[in-house]
Amino acid sequence: MERAVVQITLFGLLLALATTLPNKDDWDIYSFHINSTVTSRYATTVITSRVANRMDESKEIEFQVRIPKNAFISKFRMFIDGEVYDGVVKGKEKAQQQYTEAVSRGQSAGIVSSVGRTLEEFKTSVTIAAHQKATFELTYEELLKRRLGKYELQIHARPMQPVKDFKVDVYINEEAGINFIEVKGGLSTTVQANAITRTHVDKQAWVYFYPTEDQQKTCDSCGEQGLNGDLVIAYDVNRNPSLGDIKTSDGYFVHHFAPSSLPIIPKNVVFIIDQSGSMHGRKIQQTRIALIHILNDLAEDDNFGIITFDSSIFHWKRELVQANKENLESAKTFARNIQERGATNINAAVLRGASMLNAHSREGSASMLILLTDGDPTSGVTDFEDIQSNVRVAIGNKFPLYCLGFGFDVHFEFLEKMSLQNNGAARRIYEDSDADLQLQGFYEEVATPLLTDVTMIYNGGTHLTQTSFSQYYNGSEIVVAGQITDNDIETFTPQVVALSGNRRVKFSDTNGTVESPGTMSDSHIQRVWAYLTVKQLLDKELVLSGPEKKNAKKEALELSLKYSFVTPLTSMVVTKPQGENTDVLHKPKEGEEPESRPAAGFLPSIQTSSRLHSSRRMHYPVGLTPQFIIPASRVRPTYGPGAAGIPGHGHGTGRHGMIAAGHFRDHGSASTTVNHQFALILDDDFHIDLMDTEDEIPATIVTFSATDVPLTHRFLLTSENLTLPLCFDVTGDVSLKLLHHPNRELSVNGELDSVENGGFRRIAIHLKTDLYVEIDTNVIIVREGQTQKLLIGLDSITAGSLTVIRRDKEIDVATGDTRMVINIHEKGGKEFLWPVLRQQPLDNNVTGILALKPAVYEEVQQSPSTRLKSKDQEIDVTRASVVDYSIVYPLEHDCWLMSAESALQGRLDDFIVTHL
Ligand SMILES: *[C@@H]1O[C@H](CO)[C@@H](O)[C@H](O)[C@H]1NC(C)=O
Ligand SMILES: *[C@@H]1O[C@H](CO)[C@@H](O)[C@H](O)[C@H]1NC(C)=O
Ligand SMILES: *[C@@H]1O[C@H](CO)[C@@H](O)[C@H](O)[C@H]1NC(C)=O
Repeated sequence: MERAVVQITLFGLLLALATTLPNKDDWDIYSFHINSTVTSRYATTVITSRVANRMDESKEIEFQVRIPKNAFISKFRMFIDGEVYDGVVKGKEKAQQQYTEAVSRGQSAGIVSSVGRTLEEFKTSVTIAAHQKATFELTYEELLKRRLGKYELQIHARPMQPVKDFKVDVYINEEAGINFIEVKGGLSTTVQANAITRTHVDKQAWVYFYPTEDQQKTCDSCGEQGLNGDLVIAYDVNRNPSLGDIKTSDGYFVHHFAPSSLPIIPKNVVFIIDQSGSMHGRKIQQTRIALIHILNDLAEDDNFGIITFDSSIFHWKRELVQANKENLESAKTFARNIQERGATNINAAVLRGASMLNAHSREGSASMLILLTDGDPTSGVTDFEDIQSNVRVAIGNKFPLYCLGFGFDVHFEFLEKMSLQNNGAARRIYEDSDADLQLQGFYEEVATPLLTDVTMIYNGGTHLTQTSFSQYYNGSEIVVAGQITDNDIETFTPQVVALSGNRRVKFSDTNGTVESPGTMSDSHIQRVWAYLTVKQLLDKELVLSGPEKKNAKKEALELSLKYSFVTPLTSMVVTKPQGENTDVLHKPKEGEEPESRPAAGFLPSIQTSSRLHSSRRMHYPVGLTPQFIIPASRVRPTYGPGAAGIPGHGHGTGRHGMIAAGHFRDHGSASTTVNHQFALILDDDFHIDLMDTEDEIPATIVTFSATDVPLTHRFLLTSENLTLPLCFDVTGDVSLKLLHHPNRELSVNGELDSVENGGFRRIAIHLKTDLYVEIDTNVIIVREGQTQKLLIGLDSITAGSLTVIRRDKEIDVATGDTRMVINIHEKGGKEFLWPVLRQQPLDNNVTGILALKPAVYEEVQQSPSTRLKSKDQEIDVTRASVVDYSIVYPLEHDCWLMSAESALQGRLDDFIVTHL
């Protein structure tokens, strides 16, 4: 009932918005080509869109495309009525001044904005006369970065309508030889597979994607609006075992260095994990999961430490220890028990991590700090610059600091600056269902150090990009570009020196690796140099201060202008036929909110159930799927801040708590669906902000099918006189009171596992005041007064009157008149616990889920709905199925499903405990 109210209110909103969406029937994109050429990992992509206005009147026509965030736009032009209109790259401030008028009208600024994790959107429009045609042409350039052993070229195709002549052409030319190539991404699904042609001959590869109009409507996220998705071309090149690839042309060189046949160096790593209150819910769960996986991947000769922090610092161990089996098991238990609470003291945590590494011998190994945080410093030292300076002193250039910013409440620039100051890098972890995989993915990139203290030396080279690197990891690549003094190839001698463990190694064999100026006399290598130099100057500008900062900025600006790159320092002024607004195009910074956001690009919506996040805990009646009941007057749409990958969920919104986020599917047409992400933001006045985090959609019928709903656990209650047993559901990550036996001072609680696959993650037993046993699928911890024992593997332990026996697939717990068996079941490769009471205590004041006795019911009505009657009440039940985990080999049964309240004959809240 209440749910219906919400939907009606929001449908109203949706319909209101639907009428403002443009109708595109009257103009036609008759040709859309994407042409990407990759040479020595440098990709130049040209998007050409040809449109026709089929109307009898002039019409504003839009050109809207998405390009990778890492790329710089270098050219934009329009061909209209025989004229060419070239965009001009100018200094940002200059462009701004010149066009303040246009900018102040708000129609023109910020036409490039970030979308999602990896893309930026470019958008402009022009008025086309009746029955006229126009051509838009956008060029962008990027250096592909090698990650986990491959380069990936991402091409996003979203022409906004099916196109008769649609083509993607990719040509890759790598002198070293292409080792493998594969085509991935949403557009490479089976329907599209026969639209893709791939050819690979030694040094060259071609990928063509020519889908028909029908195929354009039938891929995963495509529909009546045509293609919408990515084509990702992944490849790697053959490796020269020694110095790598050096290409030269016109007095410039680029050097790709990525040796792989080297021994792995042991690493010393300290994980510094934010456990402040804002990590609550899914974030902390994903962090625990990721950390456990990462621990599993540590090599035996690695040393590691774990620190968790809120306003205080917690150690798993005070020193780094070896990653042997025993330490890892204990660390995993620690990881599983990380609980969120309190504020964020980043300063103290990083300093503590640095001093742990400083205290440990780093000879012959690669050391690193990995900080994971989801918020700004709020406790201890909170001034950004003070923290940065403290951290810099503590680390003293001895090892890199990697910062992972979880979600959009972090001041990313702060983390970025801090990591760049300490030879590391910052990465954003997007709050999403795959956040744990993002964390693991980052770790994998730095998991196998092969070299440390790498110095790239180029005699006869000048204007070099960065030449010293603190660590080199397998699967990555070091790229250096520069100029060759007087273009004198003869005296140009590259060399690399580094440490491989304790050994000094030198790479200097240039035998056949320096290619003379190729047949392609092009500015290509020079552009690689310019691209890399600008990127590095922009990083420097962030880290430096005073005159040095100014110089870096000036140099970056000059190069951006010279090579016509649209960078954060430059803007492109789009020239248009007379009488039209000028567009000024800026490149957004990571996490920056666009200066204006076109209204058509926004669609508010709401979900009925979803995963939960909160910096403020919201209480949902457990057992129900959470619903949000919001009076329409309180719904106020805003632009900008959002959950997954949209810019600007920034510092200004730090006080706001996100109460839900998720996806819904838009059944835009008969055959297709589009996924959308959205967030509900709850602010301090209890206003709800709704926002779409993706983009506009054709607002037709929306059915809500939220994904990532917290798992529901179904419990079984046997009842003697009914045809079927009873069952009821409990949803979410709660801890339940399993058994409470007041006379013996015994209580047993279980924590449900809502992320993985159901069942219980941990079960705790409290006996009298001083005995505490905690059980998970791997370890049993027994704490008696001050002493703590760990039980790993098949074994038994006795403490006081309690005996715990661990067998292969069950754990037997007995004390006095109570005996419980905890089954260990497995689903999807993950184990979970399921307790059963084997011997019912004699006292009748025993309570808890395991001690439940169902009311005596009789069936008073059969289909269509079934009604059960007991002494006190009549309730409706529905037929459902339940898996009986109380036995060794789980069995599925039919059951009568009733509410938890009815089954428990009381409030579910009375069965919930706040602490295990
Ligand atoms: C793609 O661009 C390259 C380089 O500009 C050019 O040589 C080639 O002909 C283009 N391919 C197509 C199909 O337009
Ligand atoms: C480095 O990674 C490659 C795959 O990218 C693998 O074949 C090689 O064995 C790895 N080398 C080391 C030392 O781990
Ligand atoms: C250099 O190349 C030549 C022929 O390609 C080969 O005979 C020679 O052994 C190589 N030298 C080194 C140091 O690898």
